[in-house]
Amino acid sequence: MQALHTSNINAWKPNIDAASSQALVLALEQGQVLFLPQLGFVLDESETPFLSPSWLDGSRKNISLEGDKVGGAQGAEQDLARLAAMVARFSNQATSLVHQLFPHYAAHLHQARTSYRPAPVGANAAISWKKDDSRLHVDAFPSRPNHGERILRVFANVNPHQEARVWRVGEPFEAASQRFLPKINKPIFGSAWLLNTLKITKKKRSEYDHIMLHLHDGMKADMDFQQNVPQQTVHFPPSSVWICFSDQVLHAAMSGQFMLEQTFHLPISALQHPELSPLKVLERLKGRALI
Ligand code: SIN
Ligand code: FE
Repeated sequence: MQALHTSNINAWKPNIDAASSQALVLALEQGQVLFLPQLGFVLDESETPFLSPSWLDGSRKNISLEGDKVGGAQGAEQDLARLAAMVARFSNQATSLVHQLFPHYAAHLHQARTSYRPAPVGANAAISWKKDDSRLHVDAFPSRPNHGERILRVFANVNPHQEARVWRVGEPFEAASQRFLPKINKPIFGSAWLLNTLKITKKKRSEYDHIMLHLHDGMKADMDFQQNVPQQTVHFPPSSVWICFSDQVLHAAMSGQFMLEQTFHLPISALQHPELSPLKVLERLKGRALI
């Protein structure tokens, strides 16, 4: 399978016919990255000063939109308000894009985090291996069980110096699951209840969440897998956009700087091909329900 499915969409509110939309949905739900090389998030002149990592306050890797403010950022109040407006403008455009491209998802999409990532990939080399996104992984978050709900992400490279964002994209989800599932034990009895009671997780971890976390960690811990699994290196040039289900696509960020990202959550019931989703694939491989 090709890692990328390229489309000539060139507007944030594109008009697309039903057949084209179906083709994009199939590519996405199959685990391809939808690549839109003709669509860019354009900064206006007053926004270009934000192309610097000095806006990061050092408390975390990224700047995120929190209501109409930014978190993780430092600067004068007026500047931060303009930075928040830029990130919010991206969020609105990303939302309008997915609504137009995937009309069947529109009513079911939940807007989640919006982030601005002004630091170069790998700037934080001392971080733990579990947080090292230059290792192939599927997204799964220890504190945020999602019970099979999908993680859909829209990315835009806004680099001003011709620098692509470079990813590695690994083999299909099912193939990787087959490698790691035999090594993943059942959760310890009572552990999901305990984590939830201690408020370590935001809701109770299902067996699906347990497996996804172990896939995430198992992939990142296995250097032989990292090097030898079938994979493709892909370049997302400045002024391009790409979209994927990051709970399904094995991805690793290798280099690049200045990117915006919008996350959405989508219930399985809104998918056109639910049998391709991580939950249904894992349930088929295990032969039982996992939530
Ligand atoms: C990731 O989602 O793992 C990182 C993506 C990126 O920073 O390009
Ligand atoms: Fe990731």
